[in-house]
Formats: sequence, C-alpha cells, structure tokens
Amino acid sequence: MPELAYVNGKILPIEKAVVPIEDRGYQFADAVYEGIASYNGNLFYLDAHLDRLERSMRALSFPAVSRDRISEAILELFERAGIARAFIYLQISRGVAPRNHAFPDAAEVQLIITIRPVNEIPEKIKKEGAAAVTTRDLRWGRCDVKTVQLLPNVTAKQKALEAGAHDAIFVAEDGVVREATSSNVFIVVKGEAVTHPLTPRILPGITRAVIIDICKEIDLPVTETFFKVEKLYGADEVFLTGTTTEVLPIVKVDGRVVGNGLAGPVSKRLLAALQERGNHPVG
Ligand code: PDD
Repeated sequence: MPELAYVNGKILPIEKAVVPIEDRGYQFADAVYEGIASYNGNLFYLDAHLDRLERSMRALSFPAVSRDRISEAILELFERAGIARAFIYLQISRGVAPRNHAFPDAAEVQLIITIRPVNEIPEKIKKEGAAAVTTRDLRWGRCDVKTVQLLPNVTAKQKALEAGAHDAIFVAEDGVVREATSSNVFIVVKGEAVTHPLTPRILPGITRAVIIDICKEIDLPVTETFFKVEKLYGADEVFLTGTTTEVLPIVKVDGRVVGNGLAGPVSKRLLAALQERGNHPVG
C-alpha cells in the first residue's frame, strides 16, 4: 500500500514530494484544502468535498480550476495507491511567485494531493468516549472557508493534549460554542440533537451534514441553533463529527462529566449509521 503524492500532475512517493519555497501556501497560508476519506475502497461524499473546495476557492478569488482535473487527479491517485480505508489530503495554493502580499499577476495554482491510510482514533477512545477542553476562539471571521491557516487550531489541539484531553472546543467571547479543532460539535438534550448553524464562524462539515441527514432519516429531532458553554456542560451527550473523527463521543468537558460519563446511545447509533453509509458507495 504505497503512500503517494500528486504534485501538479506527477505521482511520486510522499517522501520524495516537495514544493517550491515561494509557494504562497507556504509563505502566506494562501491555500485551501480538503480532507476526504474512503471506506472499503469507496470515497465518501467526494462531490460534497469538491463543492466545498470550489466555494473556498471562490471566496478567496482563486482562478477557476477545472473540477474534472481535480477529481481525475484524486481518482488516479486513489486507484494507484489501492488503500481501502484512505485519507486523501488535497491542497490548492494560489501559486508560486516572489514574496509580495498582493495577488500575483501570473502564477499557476499548485495542486497537491497525498494519500495514506486513515490514522484512526484508537478503538478504546471511540468506544468509551474522549475528554475535551474549551478554549477561546481566536480564529478569523471566515472559518467557513477551508484554508490552511490553522495555527489557532494547532495550538488549541496541543493545549488539549497537554491537559490530558483529546481535543479542544472553540468558544466565542459571549460563550457560544462553535466547533472543535478539526470537527463539528453536537450536543444531545432530552432526545434532541443540537449543533451550531451554518455561519462564517464554523466550517460547514460534510460529516455534520450527513449526520443531520441521518437524524432526519431516523426521526431524531435535530436543530441548528446557537448554544452556550453551560448547555454543553449540562448536555446528556456531546459528540464531535468529522471526516476521520466520524462520530466521537465526548464524555468529559473541562473536567466535568457529561451525562453519565459513558458514550451515549445517540452517539453510538449515529456512528453506526454513518459507517453503514460509508460501506455503501455514496456521493
Ligand atoms: N477537518 N471543523 C473544522 C475546523 C475542520 O477542520 C473540519 C475538518 C471539520 C469537519 O469537517 P468534515 O466533516 O467535512 O471533515 C469541522 C479536516 C478533516 C482536517 O483538518 O483534517
């Protein structure tokens, strides 16, 4: 199972792949990305990821890149690697040009993709649930655009790990719960699932949308509305959703036990339903 990289049309082993030092992604974080997983050799909601990628590029006034070019590159790499449960990382930067804040006049967007097996969250954590800490949301105002400027996410994740937790949940100045460092947040209160509405303050997660769809399918009430940190502490269940996170129960937040401290029935049911969708070709 080779771990491969695609760099502007060339496929090579990941460790051999390099980018020029004047790539604007490297110097300005002037790049957008996607992370796509596969289950049993089937890419999960590829179209939804490509839609979001197009929205990210439009939001930053990137030159248009053909969707066919991108999906063909992904499919070629996926086929060549032959990894059934793969994580595909795709990044498009505005290009390579002498360092200058202004957009370059003539630079070609750089398309890089890597593929390797999913780095799964340990089974014990998935089953028994994880701890999280909250942290002030210091990110910019366009978190709906999936850019590689992830320092607040990186430092928040590290803070969580150093506190013995698995992840950090961003909370706005007024106490509104946003999302985690690389996943969306849901709570369950009296049988109803609640998550932050789609605004520029969170990423419109593909898994979030799939989970909302599953909730509707199984007649579980689901609401997209703001909620504050006190509600997070008092919820019956808390869980995170994301491409490789899937549905991760959170059983402790800031040292406080959530619900009865065990992975809850709604989280378990939604995880099973998500994986079930993954094991049948979708999108
Ligand atoms: N992260 N929120 C943030 C801030 C994210 O970075 C991600 C994804 C999500 C979940 O989105 P999705 O369900 O589409 O994966 C929510 C990717 C996987 C990453 O950075 O690796």
